[in-house]
Amino acid sequence: MENPLNSPGKLDRIQTRSQTTRKIMRLKTFCSLAAIFSLALATANSQTAPDPNMAHLEKRGAATQLIVDGKPYLVLGGETDNTASSSLEYMDTVWPKLAKMNLNTVLVGIGWDWVEPAEGKYDFTLVDGLLTGARKNNLHLVFLWFGSWKNGLSSFAPEWVKADQQRFPRARLKSGKAVEVLSPFSDANLQADTRAYAAFMQHLRKVDSKQHTVVMIQLENEVGLLGDSRDRSAGAEAAFARPVPPELMDYLQKNKETLWPDLRKLWEAAGTKTAGTWQEIFGNSTAADEIFMAWNYARFMDHMAKAGKDEYAVPVFSNTWLVQPEDKSPGDYPSGCPEPLVIDVWKAGAPAIDINAPDVHLPNFSFWAGQFHRPNNPLFVPESSGDAGGVANAFYGIGQYAGIGYSPFGVNNSARLSEGRSGSNAPTPVALENLPLTRAYAMLAQMTPLILDAQTKGTIGAAWLNTNQPAQSIALGNYVVNVELRKNRRNPAQVQPLGYAIVIAAGPDEYFIAGLDVQVTFSPNTPGPEIAGLADAETGRFVQGRWIPGRKMNGDDVLLDYHQAAAAANNQSGSGLMFGADGPTVQRVKLYRYH
Ligand code: DGJ
Repeated sequence: MENPLNSPGKLDRIQTRSQTTRKIMRLKTFCSLAAIFSLALATANSQTAPDPNMAHLEKRGAATQLIVDGKPYLVLGGETDNTASSSLEYMDTVWPKLAKMNLNTVLVGIGWDWVEPAEGKYDFTLVDGLLTGARKNNLHLVFLWFGSWKNGLSSFAPEWVKADQQRFPRARLKSGKAVEVLSPFSDANLQADTRAYAAFMQHLRKVDSKQHTVVMIQLENEVGLLGDSRDRSAGAEAAFARPVPPELMDYLQKNKETLWPDLRKLWEAAGTKTAGTWQEIFGNSTAADEIFMAWNYARFMDHMAKAGKDEYAVPVFSNTWLVQPEDKSPGDYPSGCPEPLVIDVWKAGAPAIDINAPDVHLPNFSFWAGQFHRPNNPLFVPESSGDAGGVANAFYGIGQYAGIGYSPFGVNNSARLSEGRSGSNAPTPVALENLPLTRAYAMLAQMTPLILDAQTKGTIGAAWLNTNQPAQSIALGNYVVNVELRKNRRNPAQVQPLGYAIVIAAGPDEYFIAGLDVQVTFSPNTPGPEIAGLADAETGRFVQGRWIPGRKMNGDDVLLDYHQAAAAANNQSGSGLMFGADGPTVQRVKLYRYH
């Protein structure tokens, strides 16, 4: 049977439409109407039948996972600086470093102006070169389509778009001034970006449908309007005066119980109406403007995502510029970006976007990851930090929220990744193989089969600790796993500033735990004897999914507290697992219980 990926996409189909029409006319002379219908049906099926080896998302037990070449895949990623990928020569120096740092996936920008410098004249040399570079280094790619919007602005639109403000209208602010931002309320803008993006996706189908180097696409980058809470261009003003579209009203009513609480509050405060203008439904505030912008960006990008998927249907995500502490109102941050407040609006308006992903450049990663991990939104983090704090983020997102992957920003600049702690400015250059990220990805890579399996079974959790949050308890299987920052045994007030762990229940009394600078104790979580003792503990490693034991852990390795009376009073044995700073390391532990 013909490979559906080699069959024509929508663009090809448009180009060959006249030939097809002529053929059908001839057929009509010979065939009955019924025969034509069945032929059309067969053709449609062959074009839409999914290729199981093409990257896609799949609900597997408790998790939604990314499937690549037929197997679940964990993105150990990294994003390059915005324009790094505009130079193949430069990227040739970067790929081998990223491979050495144990990345399996690289997120690279592809600017609209780089591939369509003149209208309708596409040049995908850069795309092909990036694919070649990635493949040579055994890496997968996620392309970031920098089309109409990059961080809210339209700097990556080609000159022929930027310069023709008549044809491609700009957003306008309250002041009446236009900004260098394409208005999402223009059909010409929508058609131009969609055509370019669909041509790009058609090209990917042609050059990548056998090798599947590309595993996902990020559509645009941190969209939303900066400078005002809503666009005031003519098209925008007309749309704002119209009623909220029935599709959004239906969604709100059908999903009322699970709506983001602040969105629901706005709707309820305005009287929970089922029809009306944006201000009638959501109140007369900048929040109504933000919801209006979210809906319209979502519709724009849904149209693009669909057109792209008609060509090549790999998963698509958006990324969010999270509200920063200094931002007071929408417009300080991109108004309409898929923030938690408006994720429901995006889900209603852009079903073709599979994931709304957060860019977590804020210190409280565990909070933000939780906001974006929802039943209808698997967690993927396309931008965050890549230092030691970033590693904690990666472990947490993947372990606690069944994340499909992690990707620090700016990985082409390894100096940025050598910092000891997230947000610090430690200047010492560190060899690539000793970077926190390199070591952490090595650990996550060896544990990948176990992690992916545990995500589907819901037998995985994680801890993300710092001095503000020094301990976390994870109820998993028959025990509560208590993870704390590692303490100095003689002076327990002396604790490490940062620690993290992934915890996987491997059997009724057995766990694999990988982490750094933490200590771990266990409390029974089922009826029976109330104290958990260590029956057996060992370090080791996974080779092709198989556990290879190393050293036994006992004596000083597991002794947390000699004060037996105090430990017994807390139903503790005084022993537990310890994970030092030279890591992360992985340990297997078997527990037993006593009175
Ligand atoms: C977030 C953007 O999405 C990235 O493209 C980049 O501009 C970073 N900010 C810079 O920190």
